[in-house]
Amino acid sequence: MYQKIIETKITQCNYNELSEEYKKLVETAKNQVEKAYAPYSKFHVGAAVQLENGEVFAASNQENSAYPSGLCAERVAMFFANAQYPETPVRTLAIAAFTNGNFLKSPISPCGACRQVLLETEARFEKNIATILYGSEQIYIIDNVKQMLPLCFEKSSLDIKTD
Ligand code: THU
Repeated sequence: MYQKIIETKITQCNYNELSEEYKKLVETAKNQVEKAYAPYSKFHVGAAVQLENGEVFAASNQENSAYPSGLCAERVAMFFANAQYPETPVRTLAIAAFTNGNFLKSPISPCGACRQVLLETEARFEKNIATILYGSEQIYIIDNVKQMLPLCFEKSSLDIKTD
């Protein structure tokens, strides 16, 4: 018996340390919180996806009175981008969350279902997606989605293996 340790590399920084490109994407995600439809949770999330061709798609969470019918900002943004550009890889995703009159101080982290969707896009285009998790006091950058979802279920998991 032995123990395995799976590591995730997280770059922690503050806003001023971001590149101009990343600052712009973070600003786009922050601006999107105003457009969230979140009357139930009052938790407003903004997401901005940048494609390899430079194009940016921005979105917010969309809730529903039948709660599970709503969708997180990350998935709205990613599906929107993939639907418009099915051949173009995604380069970067930025997310920000606003509640009780303030942006979260700690970096907002995508839920498990969103990570699964982000992973599919990363695998689909065989291109790492960097994720910028915004917090007003600190920001995390993770170089690829796979690191955010260890022991993931992926396409190859569907291959039936028999002994
Ligand atoms: N939400 C997101 O949009 N993204 C996240 O990363 C976490 C949660 C949304 C879902 C729901 O509308 C609200 O925030 C509260 O969970």
